[in-house]
Amino acid sequence: MRTPFLAGNWKMHKTVSEATALAREIVAGATGSGNRIMVAPPFTALAAVGAIVKGSPVRLGAQNMAGELSGAHTGETSVLMLKDLGVEYVILGHSERRHVYGESDELVNRKVKLALERGMQTILCVGETLEEREADSVESVVAAQLAGGLDGVEEASLGQVTIAYEPVWAIGTGKTATPDDANAVHRFIRDWFAKHYSAKAADAMCIQYGGSVKPDNVRDLMAMEHIDGALVGGASLDADSFLAIATYNKE
Ligand code: 13P
Repeated sequence: MRTPFLAGNWKMHKTVSEATALAREIVAGATGSGNRIMVAPPFTALAAVGAIVKGSPVRLGAQNMAGELSGAHTGETSVLMLKDLGVEYVILGHSERRHVYGESDELVNRKVKLALERGMQTILCVGETLEEREADSVESVVAAQLAGGLDGVEEASLGQVTIAYEPVWAIGTGKTATPDDANAVHRFIRDWFAKHYSAKAADAMCIQYGGSVKPDNVRDLMAMEHIDGALVGGASLDADSFLAIATYNKE
């Protein structure tokens, strides 16, 4: 039984005061679902939000990190600095990092390995563009991102890995993959783990869906066999909508 994992990626939104207000509301409403819940504020608000979520069911995540531990890397943030702030999760390989900031599978892989070595939980994002979907290459694109991102990662570390399937054409567009279409890709991802690791690893792998997840579509998505959670952008910026998603199964 995989515990549902609902995560909010705040992207480049929220000043410190806005982030603390949002985090307080989320913490107040996040109890009692039994789900794993995480928020990833921008770097500037990590310390403040970390202080609020400490001791609550809400985990703290970062949206990115450097592929190196320290040194002359202007503008970058080390895994050591994130851990120092109580960050437990890091989102890596998000499509905005890949497509807007040119991150390669090789760079994403360096970040994944460094995060795992340092005891961080990682959310590795994969997903195809609209052109790739129209060219019928969803599976080859996703397989290449999995193989590239996880190159050299041993099965023993997979307990620290979550996969987020985020079709690029569904991010911030209001277009969600249908639950059946998303589930088909999730099943392909789980089979990929069975083939490259083991049936046990595949069965345990938490696979989130991301791309226009909202309070009104979360239940249909979460009802699918291979969808274990959601990585939420826009709808995570408001406490009521994020809580409706994060505690979708609360009685
Ligand atoms: P939206 O929920 O705004 O489509 O964003 C999804 C996303 O990119 C989460 O990482």
